[in-house]
Amino acid sequence: MEQVIKHLKKLETDDFRVLRAIEKGMQKYKHVPISEIGDRTKFDVEYVNYILDRLHKRELINRWSEKYVGYHVNQHGYDCLALNVLVQSDVIESFGKSVGIGKEADVYEGLTPDEEVVAIKIHRLGRISFRQTKRYRDYTADKHHLSWLYTSRLAAEKEYEALMVLYPLKIAVPKPYGQNRHIVVMSNIVGDDLFTIKELKNPDKIFDTILKNIEKSYRKAQIIHGDLSEFNIIITPKFKPLLIDWPQWVSITHPNALFYLERDITNVCNFFEKKFKIFSNPQFLVEKITKT
Ligand SMILES: Nc1ncnc2c1ncn2[C@@H]1O[C@H](COP(=O)(O)OP(=O)(O)OP(=O)(O)O)[C@@H](O)[C@H]1O
Ligand SMILES: [Mg+2]
Repeated sequence: MEQVIKHLKKLETDDFRVLRAIEKGMQKYKHVPISEIGDRTKFDVEYVNYILDRLHKRELINRWSEKYVGYHVNQHGYDCLALNVLVQSDVIESFGKSVGIGKEADVYEGLTPDEEVVAIKIHRLGRISFRQTKRYRDYTADKHHLSWLYTSRLAAEKEYEALMVLYPLKIAVPKPYGQNRHIVVMSNIVGDDLFTIKELKNPDKIFDTILKNIEKSYRKAQIIHGDLSEFNIIITPKFKPLLIDWPQWVSITHPNALFYLERDITNVCNFFEKKFKIFSNPQFLVEKITKT
């Protein structure tokens, strides 16, 4: 990521124009030919080649040279495109240390132009494929070579959409600041992931608050998290739980809505039972939340 930030600062308008042209061309070609990049940028071939060499040296695009010479934007190039938009539109000003590198996303700290600390979540689907390819298969079936790019962007769009609905309803989620391509910017939550917490003063109160938030999401926002567990709940130093990681939410009208709701609730109940000896009945809680 340091590499990407270093390059981002040096990239010029024409570099971005060429990157965007390749990105667009990738909807049509697996390897975008130089002539296509020329047509899209209106730059002459010599200048296009000059910029392509520069982008290639910086490892923002990959070159393919079998039947013809073609290019595609790689993950670093895609990061640059998204971060550039977020900086240009004043969502973020700078990029900080990593706060979580995972299977499906990398999360970094960042600063807004008003010096607020934010979390910059970069979705990275397709890195490990089994679970996600299954999850997003319908969407990418026809565009196989683009799957990481599409699924990561889709995940970011979905997550942002959820936060935009949930946050104004005062449900305990990070505040959304902006989104571009595969990146979501949201408030940075200071605290610890629930699964790492050894002791809690009032575990029953925290359990109730989590359930209240699940209920509010269901009733007011009509959204079910779909991947809720001790791994996607952060506990702040003031013992407030926040529900994070929303890209796989489903609407309460989804055919399997009840299955997801029950699984979310069961995960939470099992964790609090095992760790804090709080006994509950998930089935009863599901009925309580869904009853009209
Ligand atoms: N808004 C935030 N503020 C602070 N930390 C965050 C925020 N969002 C995520 N994190 C941290 O980054 C980690 C990964 O984030 P998240 O759960 O959203 O992504 P993920 O797709 O589950 O990635 P992973 O594969 O690592 O689980 C979280 O467990 C949490 O520690
Ligand atoms: Mg997670």
